Amino acid sequence: MYQSYEANTFSDLVDNVVTGDCLDVMNLIPNNKVNLIITSPPYFQQRDYGGGIGNEKTIDLYLENLLAVFDQCNRVLTEDGSVVFNLGDKYLNSSLQLIPYRFALRVLETFQVKLVNDITWIKLNPTPRQYQKRLVNSTEPFFHFVKSDKYYYQLNEFKKNDSLKNKKNDGSNIGKKYYELIRTSSLTSEQKRAAIQELTDTIREVKEGKIESLRMKIQGIHSEPFGGQNGGRMYHLMRKGFTIIKIKGNGIKKDVMESAVETIKGSKHPAVYPLSIIRELIKLLSRPGDFVLDPFVGSGTTAIAAKELNRSYIGIDLNQEYCKYARERLSRIHYQETPEILNEI
Ligand SMILES: C[S@@+](CC[C@H](N)C(=O)[O-])C[C@H]1O[C@@H](n2cnc3c(N)ncnc32)[C@H](O)[C@@H]1O
Repeated sequence: MYQSYEANTFSDLVDNVVTGDCLDVMNLIPNNKVNLIITSPPYFQQRDYGGGIGNEKTIDLYLENLLAVFDQCNRVLTEDGSVVFNLGDKYLNSSLQLIPYRFALRVLETFQVKLVNDITWIKLNPTPRQYQKRLVNSTEPFFHFVKSDKYYYQLNEFKKNDSLKNKKNDGSNIGKKYYELIRTSSLTSEQKRAAIQELTDTIREVKEGKIESLRMKIQGIHSEPFGGQNGGRMYHLMRKGFTIIKIKGNGIKKDVMESAVETIKGSKHPAVYPLSIIRELIKLLSRPGDFVLDPFVGSGTTAIAAKELNRSYIGIDLNQEYCKYARERLSRIHYQETPEILNEI
């Protein structure tokens, strides 16, 4: 049992960042208690954090240690909970080792869990390197594991604002070209008036964010709708001389997340993952009030996103300085603070 001046019971961990080996500290967490775990363990032989996981002699030893942590994660996770592990890869003897995928395979072989997604983080600003015979690696996986098919999932909340608020679709240029095409078309005056009216109404819907975009087909200018059946768009085209297709957007939610590597002014931690990605995962995989755990919390990113979204957080890190830094950052944010302010912390 973990004993420290910082935490001796589970309630000492709640909404706190605690110094210690995560395997010890997690002993204070009852079974099936935590709704969501998002974490990024130290990568293999990448950095010296002053002890802990990451500097094992072999990949196998490293994976064994990670698996022991995963075992604890699995124990404390609720039946409808999720575990998300982010890992980076490593070149040894100029060969990529595929360490994240070895980890994911070992997890699937060892535990009764399912891998829901391998989400790719695309780094918009990877460390610039001058390799002559290889490309610069600019992606990392986030593995999403669950215990059962009953996992909590709020797809509507994921990247909610991405599509409809897309800058390209602010409505300023949308559809303008069609006015000219209508004017020069061979539609009757009555058809032209109806086309301009419907186009104007649809452009307004784009500007109001109700739809993402539009396409228009005008008789004699554009090809007939594919398939050419008599109903639907074909019917409109024949009867009215035009048809407008409303593009709703936000339809496909893909397993890729683009984000720059975090650069926080005066950061006391060398490997901070993007707050924006963690926020989206928390919204997707938990409810307000849920427990969100990060056993390798570092600078506190997971805890900050959880607090901001009104979830309870539990942060653990071996390094006392990082814990202090995470607590400082957390003390400066309040529930539901705006992202702009958070980025300056
Ligand atoms: C990649 S960093 C995590 C960074 C974090 N995601 C963030 O955004 O700041 C990994 C962290 O794991 C910590 N660590 C290493 N071994 C540990 C262990 N056995 N228990 C708890 N923390 C450990 C390190 O001190 C380091 O801060």
